[in-house]
Amino acid sequence: MDEIKRTSYCGSLGLDNVGQNVTVMGWVDRTRDLGGVNFIDLRDREGIVQIVIDPDKATILDLSKSLRAEHVIAVEGLVVKRSKDTVNPEIKTGKIEVHANHLRVLSRSNTPPFPINKDDDTTEETRLRYRYLDLRRPRMQSNIRLRHRVCMAIRNYLDQLEFLEIETPILTNSTPEGARDYLVPSRLHPGHFYALPQSPQIFKQLLMIGGFDKYFQIVRCFRDEDLRADRQPEFTQVDIEVSFPSEEIIFKIVEGLLREVFSITKISLPEKIPHLSYTESINRFGTDRPDTRFELELIDLGSSFIETPFRIFQDILGTGGVIKGIRVKGGSSFSRAKIDNFSRFVSNYGAPALSWIRHVDKGLKSSLPKVVPFHELEKSAHLAKMSKGDLLFILAGDVNTVNDALGALRINLAQQLDLIPNDQNNFLWIRDFPLVTWDKQAKRFMSLHHPFTSPTSDGLEQLSQDPGKAMSRAYDIILNGQEIGGGSIRIHDPIVQRQIFKLLGIPDKEAEQRFGFLLEALKYGAPPHGGIALGLDRIIMTMTGEPSIRDVIPFPKTARAQDLMCGAPSPVKKHHLRELSLNIS
Ligand code: AMO
Repeated sequence: MDEIKRTSYCGSLGLDNVGQNVTVMGWVDRTRDLGGVNFIDLRDREGIVQIVIDPDKATILDLSKSLRAEHVIAVEGLVVKRSKDTVNPEIKTGKIEVHANHLRVLSRSNTPPFPINKDDDTTEETRLRYRYLDLRRPRMQSNIRLRHRVCMAIRNYLDQLEFLEIETPILTNSTPEGARDYLVPSRLHPGHFYALPQSPQIFKQLLMIGGFDKYFQIVRCFRDEDLRADRQPEFTQVDIEVSFPSEEIIFKIVEGLLREVFSITKISLPEKIPHLSYTESINRFGTDRPDTRFELELIDLGSSFIETPFRIFQDILGTGGVIKGIRVKGGSSFSRAKIDNFSRFVSNYGAPALSWIRHVDKGLKSSLPKVVPFHELEKSAHLAKMSKGDLLFILAGDVNTVNDALGALRINLAQQLDLIPNDQNNFLWIRDFPLVTWDKQAKRFMSLHHPFTSPTSDGLEQLSQDPGKAMSRAYDIILNGQEIGGGSIRIHDPIVQRQIFKLLGIPDKEAEQRFGFLLEALKYGAPPHGGIALGLDRIIMTMTGEPSIRDVIPFPKTARAQDLMCGAPSPVKKHHLRELSLNIS
């Protein structure tokens, strides 16, 4: 075994290889000494094979006894069919074993900080600190391999549709997508910074103006924002842009792509993905990314209280607020403590305490003050279609707070009551978004998507009259309550684009400075264009059923945006700062 050359993967051997001499290489998963015969479970990316060291192979038998978990070895030996009573149905290669003739240790391993062959309760911190070991585990191997297959499927599908994969810059200027930028100081231009792209939005539009017609890119994006289980500071988009599109053309491309991708894990899409308007989504679910796998819809109870003598409700309805509820089937048996917990939960969303109506044997009981007439409770119960045993939660307040709080309560209830069918996948298009929303704090309009989103033709007319009412040509795609993609038909008229910048409170001079190149490009024959970006990590998360986006990214950041393995972000040397003309204050 002087020159060692691998002939096979451990996990790929099977009955077809019986009688062959093979050389396999990999990690020692475990060893067992059974009265003179030594067994090694040898692991590589394809799986595990059993190596047998017979007692007559004295030299390698001794060596094999010194092996520890995670040592890397090479074994040359004969593939032998196992006898019926020794077949191991638990592993792919369980019908065979390799009887070793030669064994060589290629690399030794310290005792790993956690077992590789067991999914134990190792903390995520330790897993991330030793990510290279965590990646050896079957769960991560399978997730990362699936990721590869998904990327290949995307590339093949889009290539067949004549899309071109084109790269766009990473060192660039800010692309407004609603998050903070990661900045990179320029050494050659003191006081000047590049921004890492929040998305390739402007570049993909320029590629349409550049005549490429159909673009895609599987691309890293960077956003400095608060992290959640489905957010990372650097994440991957499947970015798509098309010239001369309609919304329907984009939907068809995306639905085909998702069908192809999800078929890998045998998740099928419906013939046609349902559409819901933004307004209806907010009204019924309190959010524009509803999980439609369960009911618990929000019910507008305002009409029950139009003439109410209850001052608080009068005031709320009189100042444009709403009174909405959620009916919980069988919820009348909830204890006070349980109801108080839900009340505390909505208070996290800035909402006042929840009121309730219970439908009990003796009729309706409510936490609302006595001044609320009984017929108003009856009307509410009727609107909510309550039956005996049900509970109706009621929340009154300004529209956004009530929708946010009840939208979150809806999910919380579904989780606690175990109402989410985890084997079901609901895809949904959300459409008919307003173009802008008024930000009370900033006292200005903000884009609901980004500033390059085209208004509808009616919306264009509204711009000069009542911009808050203008609708856009944006769309999002939602899967089980998670936004897996968003896009729009874009503005291709420089005059409209300028108008939008103005509406968003970006002064002409700033618009010129930040986006002058786009405004200029739009003057040189910009084709109508539009597209979408899908969140690749979120898609893989759903396909694998992982609860965190970190489990589908090889080297993710923590919720505090740190890389625990290499210690990023880290301080830099003074001379480095000097070179960049930077001072830390
Ligand atoms: P948007 O900002 O909606 O649109 O992003 C598109 C999709 O990217 C995913 N995503 C994220 N995934 C993980 N971590 C994050 N921090 C994160 N932020 C976003 C989501 C989201 O739906 N340029 C536009 C697209 C377009 O208009 O074509 C854009 O970036 O799944």
